[in-house]
Amino acid sequence: MSASGNQLHRRIRSFVLREGRLTKGQQQALDVLFPRFGVSLSQGPLDLEALFGRSAPKILEIGFGNGASLATMAAQHPQNDYFGIEVHRPGAGNLLLQIEAQGLTNIRVSHDDAIEVLQQQIPDQSLDAIYLFFPDPWHKRKHHKRRIVQSDFVQLIRRKLEPGGIFHMATDWQHYAQHMMKVMSAAEGFENTAGVDQYTSRPEYRPMTKFEQRGHRLGHGVWDLIFRRDV
Ligand SMILES: C[S@@+](CC[C@H](N)C(=O)[O-])C[C@H]1O[C@@H](n2cnc3c(N)ncnc32)[C@H](O)[C@@H]1O
Repeated sequence: MSASGNQLHRRIRSFVLREGRLTKGQQQALDVLFPRFGVSLSQGPLDLEALFGRSAPKILEIGFGNGASLATMAAQHPQNDYFGIEVHRPGAGNLLLQIEAQGLTNIRVSHDDAIEVLQQQIPDQSLDAIYLFFPDPWHKRKHHKRRIVQSDFVQLIRRKLEPGGIFHMATDWQHYAQHMMKVMSAAEGFENTAGVDQYTSRPEYRPMTKFEQRGHRLGHGVWDLIFRRDV
């Protein structure tokens, strides 16, 4: 495709990269630990079982932030393998530090755009679950097009899940929860595990973040949506 063609087809992204400063520890983690636990887009299509060195249930978290929830889940569920994608490099560095501190072997990390990783690297029907916890809500109407949950995205998710696989979203922004419910209810090939138009209470496997605890104390809501892919 020509350069101008590429530009014409440039996707609206769900993030704006404000790199921020990497701490010395995060930079070191990226230098030393990324070669061991990291995955780059340039590696092309992945063989997930080869990547983890075993055959186990595989769970993808999109936008893991500072990685606290992901590290906790991986420590609590050593029987599962977790693939985390976060474009913000300080977050990826932070997760790598936690992997080392806790001696975790069941996490792999990407700091590329999750859409590209899904499209180019994750095999179809290879994941048992995909988690999307507190995606950027893009509050303003003119920014709603940046929300990652859109019908095309949801069909990409469906393709990557095994039949019967789970897509779990959580948000603390009611309007985004309603948007998620609308998109998911209209999406072909998904069933709401809680029943039509119903939200789910936080399952035990999703750790409550500090931010969420604070929100709870202030009386803010959190909405979990758990959909199952068709078989
Ligand atoms: C509001 S934060 C939530 C972080 C974390 N899940 C939590 O609950 O604390 C959303 C995160 O998603 C990341 N993100 C947004 N779009 C992404 C994409 N396309 N690929 C990878 N990460 C993305 C952002 O960089 C940001 O760190």
